[in-house]
Amino acid sequence: MKLDPAAVVSVESVSRLSTAQATQIRDRFDRLGFVVLRVPPSPQPRTEFLALSRYFGSIIHHEHSEADGIVPVAPLNHHPEYVNTTNKELLPHTDGSFALQPPKVVAMQCEVAAASGGLTTFVEAQWIYETLKQRDPEGLETLFRPDALTVKRSNRVATKPIFQRCSDRVEMVFRADSAARVTIAPPCVTAFETIKTLAQDPANQLCFQMQPGDIFVFDNTRILHGRTAFAEGDDRRLNRLWFDGKPEGEPLEFGFRDSFDRGFVVSGF
Ligand SMILES: [Fe+2]
Repeated sequence: MKLDPAAVVSVESVSRLSTAQATQIRDRFDRLGFVVLRVPPSPQPRTEFLALSRYFGSIIHHEHSEADGIVPVAPLNHHPEYVNTTNKELLPHTDGSFALQPPKVVAMQCEVAAASGGLTTFVEAQWIYETLKQRDPEGLETLFRPDALTVKRSNRVATKPIFQRCSDRVEMVFRADSAARVTIAPPCVTAFETIKTLAQDPANQLCFQMQPGDIFVFDNTRILHGRTAFAEGDDRRLNRLWFDGKPEGEPLEFGFRDSFDRGFVVSGF
C-alpha cells in the first residue's frame, strides 16, 4: 500500500519552520502517529535533522550514536547483531525494545536513497490490536502481561508487556527478528505469532521510498517500522534520531485510543 500524500508535509527547512508548518506537522503526528517531512536536500542535513528536537523533545543517545546523537544507518560489515548496518530486509518492529525505556519518538532522515529496494515499511499498532481483538481477544489480553516479551541485545536485556495501557491509551513494544534474542512467555506465544504473521505480510504494510532530504518521524509506541532489502553494495544512507517525546509547550500524546478510528491516510486493509 502506498502512502497518502496527506501524510506528507513539504517544508523548505526544518530549522526555519513557520508556526503554520509546525502546527501542520504536529497535527499529522497526533492524528496518524507519524508524518513525512519533505525537505529539499541541504548542505547541512545534520543541522536540519537536529532541529526536530524543538518539536519532539530531547535527543536520546544510543550505543552507536555519534556525539550529536545521530545514528548513521548504512551498510557495514562488522555488526551482525545490528540489522541497521546490513542490506537485508528489516521486519516491522519498535525501536529500543531491549531498553527499559524505549524512545517515544523515532526519526529517520534520508541522505542517499537505495538505487532499488530499501523501501521504508510500517504497520499501525492500532490495526494489529483491533485485528487481534476480533480474532483472539483472550490471546490479546495475555500480551498485557509484564513478562510477555524479553529482548536481549549485546549486554542489554528488558522484559515487558507487548501492549501496555497508559491512562486511556495503549502503547506497543514489538520485535521478532533473529538479530536480537527474543523470548516470549508461554501463554503469549499464540497471539505473538499472530502479530508476526500480520505485521510481516507485505499486504498489511504501508511502504514508500524516502527521497534525499525526507524525514520520517513517528510515535515508536504506535507505529512498527521496517524496510525492504536492497542490493549489496548499494549506497543507502540514512540518519536516525531518538527523542524522549517531551518538547517544551503542549505535551505530545503517545499510543492509540482503545477504539478504532483509522483516520484518513490508510486504505485497503
Ligand atoms: Fe528500527
